[in-house]
Amino acid sequence: MAKDFDELEDSNRSANASIHEVSDPARRLWLRAGAGAAGLGWLSTLGLASCASGGGAGSAGPSLGFEGLPPSTADAVRVPLGYVAQVLAPWGEPLGIAGAAMPAWKPDASNSAAEQALQMGMHHDGLDFFALAEGGAGSNRGLLAINHEYTDDGLLHPGGQTPWTPEKVRKAQAAHGIAVIEVERQAGGWQMVRPSKYARRITGNTPFAIGGPAAGHAMMQTAADPAGRTVLGTLGNCASSKTPWGTYLSGEENWANYFTAADTPTAHERRWGIRKATWYRWPEHDERFDTVRHPNEPNRFGWVVEVDPMDPTSTPVKRSALGRAAHEGAWVAVTKSGRAVVYSGEDAAFEYIYKFVSRDAIRPARTGVSAAKANADLLDHGTLYVARFDRDGRGRWLPLVHGSGPLTAANGFADQGEVLIKARQASDLLGATKMDRPEWLAIDERSGWVYCTLTNNSRRGQAGFPGVDAANPRAANVMGHIIRWKEDGDFDGPGMAWNHLLLAGDPANTDEANRGNIRGDAFGSPDTIAFDPRGLLWVGTDVSSRTINKGPYERLGNNSLLACNPVSGEVRRFLTGPVGCEITGATWTPDGRTMFVNIQHPGESPGDRSDPTQPSRFSRWPDNAPGSRPRSATLAIWRQDGGVVGG
Ligand code: FEO
Ligand code: CA
Ligand code: CA
Repeated sequence: MAKDFDELEDSNRSANASIHEVSDPARRLWLRAGAGAAGLGWLSTLGLASCASGGGAGSAGPSLGFEGLPPSTADAVRVPLGYVAQVLAPWGEPLGIAGAAMPAWKPDASNSAAEQALQMGMHHDGLDFFALAEGGAGSNRGLLAINHEYTDDGLLHPGGQTPWTPEKVRKAQAAHGIAVIEVERQAGGWQMVRPSKYARRITGNTPFAIGGPAAGHAMMQTAADPAGRTVLGTLGNCASSKTPWGTYLSGEENWANYFTAADTPTAHERRWGIRKATWYRWPEHDERFDTVRHPNEPNRFGWVVEVDPMDPTSTPVKRSALGRAAHEGAWVAVTKSGRAVVYSGEDAAFEYIYKFVSRDAIRPARTGVSAAKANADLLDHGTLYVARFDRDGRGRWLPLVHGSGPLTAANGFADQGEVLIKARQASDLLGATKMDRPEWLAIDERSGWVYCTLTNNSRRGQAGFPGVDAANPRAANVMGHIIRWKEDGDFDGPGMAWNHLLLAGDPANTDEANRGNIRGDAFGSPDTIAFDPRGLLWVGTDVSSRTINKGPYERLGNNSLLACNPVSGEVRRFLTGPVGCEITGATWTPDGRTMFVNIQHPGESPGDRSDPTQPSRFSRWPDNAPGSRPRSATLAIWRQDGGVVGG
C-alpha cells in the first residue's frame, strides 16, 4: 500500500563489518530435472527450455520487444501499441462460489457485509495464476488467487465511516483477505467462470490453523482460542507467490494498524507499531482488536499464510516457522537437495530481510495425494535466518535459533516460539541490517540471483534515525533501489555476494541524490517485482499519493509497470495506471501470452480516506460513469497478434 503506515523505531545498533571468504560464483539453474523437482508437474509448464539463454552468463538477456510508453497523468490504463488491457475482476464483482449467491455489485456501495463476503474484496495486491490443465490448455484456463490488502472506508460504505457501525466493521473485514477465482480465455478475452467449484473467499474472519513452533505457544493463546492454534482471519495481505508444490503464499503486512493499545503501549507493542490510535476503528465494534482486553491477539498476525487454491475446503495455515514480521510476501527457491528456501522481507522502514530453509526436501505428489497435500507441513520445520549486508559486498545469514548467541531466556526469548513471535527484537540483537522497506522479492531461476525492491525510506540518515550503509546508500531515500544477491554454493548457504541492480530516480532531477542510475525509462518507489516465463523482470511502482507528480517525481507521471532486462539493466515503461493508483502483482499464463496485473487504490486521496460525498473526486476508473467510485481491479493483458507479452 502507498500510505505510510510503516512504523519507525530507533536503533542504537550498527551492523558489524566482517570479512568472509569469496566463494565460487558459478551457479546452476535452480529448477532442473532431478529428485527435488520430481512429481512437481506444473514445473514443466514454466517453459524454461525455451529461454535457456535468458539472463544467463554471457547472454544478452530477454528482449524488450515493445515500444515504451511516456509517463501519463491520465485517469486511464495505457499499454503499448498492439496490446489489449481488459478489466477482469474489480472490487465488488461476485465470485460465483458454487452453491452460493452471486450478489451483483451496487455502484453506490450499498452491498451488505454478507454480500461483500461473496464478492471480490478491496485493494487488490499480489496475485498468482494456477493452471487447471497440463500443456497448452493450461494457458487458457486456471485459477487466480488475489490478495485484498486493505480498505478505504470512504469508498466501501455509503457515507463512509459516518455513522460507524458493527455492520460496517463486518463489511470491512469481509473486504479483506484473499479471493480465488476461476478464469478462462474465450474468443473476446478472459472471463470469470461462474459458478466455479474452486471459487473461494478468505476474509478477516476465516479460520486459519497455525503451523510451526509458535502453534499453541502461550503468547498465541486468547480467551476465544485457549489452545492458541486457530486464528480468525488474515489481514494486510500484500505480496504473494506460488510455491513449487502448488500452493499460494501471502504476507500479512500492515496488521498493526487494526489494533488499539492502552495509552502507554507495552515495549513489545511499541516495537511492532501498535498504538492507541487505530486507522480502521475496528475495536469500537469488535473487541478482539483491543489489546487491553486481548493482549495476545496481535501476536496471531504478521505471518506468511499458505493456501491450497485447488481445495476450497482446505484450512489455510499461518506458517510461524517463517517468522513474524510486517511481511510483504514470501518467495520459494529450491536447493539441489530439493529443500525449500523461502525469502521474505518486511515492508517497514529500517526492518529486515529473512530466509527460511526447510528441514525436509519437497515431497512429490503421489497417487491420490497432490503435491500441496504431500507438503502440508513442509514449512513448519526448518531454520530461519536474517540478513546482514556488509560493506565489502558480502553478506551473512544470521540464524534466528533459540539458545544461539544472544537469543536466550535472559534476553527475553523463552523458547523458539518466542524468537519467532519477536523476530524483530531477535534480529535487533543479532545486528541484522536495517533496510529501506523491503517489498517484493524475485528469484531468477536462470542465474540464481535473488532480487529485492527497497521502495524508499525518507528518514534514512535523518536526525534520530540510522544513517546510510553500503546496502542502503542514500540518505533521505525517496526514490528507492533494487538490491540483489547470489548465495555461496546453494540457496541454503550461510553467505552471499550482493550488489545493486539499480538506484531508482529521474536523471532529469537537478539534485544528485534523486537522479539514480537507471538505464532507460525512469521510475521511483519500486514495489512489485516478478520474473516472467522468459526471464524479464517486471517492476511495479508505488509512489505515495502525497509525493506523486511532485518534487523529484514531477516528471514521472502516475504509477507504472516497467520491464527490465536483468542482464543489461535496460528498463522500459510498459503500462501506466489511472490517477492515484499503484501497480500491484504480476503473473503470467505458462505460455507467457497473458499477463495478469492489479490496479490498486485508483483515486487514492492523498494521506486520507476518500470523501464519501465525492467518491470520484480523483478517479472514476474503471467504470468511468459520472460519479462512479474508483475500484481496484485485476487486468488481463495480451498482444493482439497472440505473441508473448513483452517479447
Ligand atoms: Fe503492501 Fe508493502 O506494500
Ligand atoms: Ca509500497
Ligand atoms: Ca507492496
